[in-house]
Amino acid sequence: MCFRTPKALADSPDPSRKAKIDEIIRVDHAGETAAVRIYEGQMFVLGRNKETAETLEHMRMQEVEHLSDLDVLVADRRVRPSALLPVWEVAGFALGAVTAAMGKEAAMACTVAVEDVIGGHYNDQIRDLLARGWDEEELLALLKKNRDEELEHLETATELGAERAPLHAPLTQIIKTGCKAAIEVAKVI
Ligand SMILES: [Fe+2]
Ligand SMILES: [Fe+2]
Repeated sequence: MCFRTPKALADSPDPSRKAKIDEIIRVDHAGETAAVRIYEGQMFVLGRNKETAETLEHMRMQEVEHLSDLDVLVADRRVRPSALLPVWEVAGFALGAVTAAMGKEAAMACTVAVEDVIGGHYNDQIRDLLARGWDEEELLALLKKNRDEELEHLETATELGAERAPLHAPLTQIIKTGCKAAIEVAKVI
């Protein structure tokens, strides 16, 4: 799915609207950057298990598409990307690899925790945009598509035994807290 934005929209006459839209695109672009790396980290460790690898690769490819759609928005709307992209890349890969090293179930618990936060984050953005009544059909369609696919990832990871992970509750708590903190940072930096 490709989302191209008319050039005129990049120069929104309302600076506060432009700032809000930029914030949405910046944080989502950062999040999808990290998401691709999380799945790469999981594949790095679990890639030799054929069944798990197929599932991880399917989810990774969807994250690649999310990121490429956001790349288009960043370019077309001239959004300053997060200055911390290298940090999100390293942190994402490390999170994926470390949880995968704890076992398949821990990798899936990581996916459930991340996608729960990200799905909720996309929902918050969708509600916020709708409440503002701006004509942002294209952006809303992208946010909804990504939200739906993140929640699919959550369901898949649950089916693959996320709740059987060692240290499931504290692991989930730590990852969710980290994701929420990263979201707040990536909105501005
Ligand atoms: Fe995603
Ligand atoms: Fe996802």
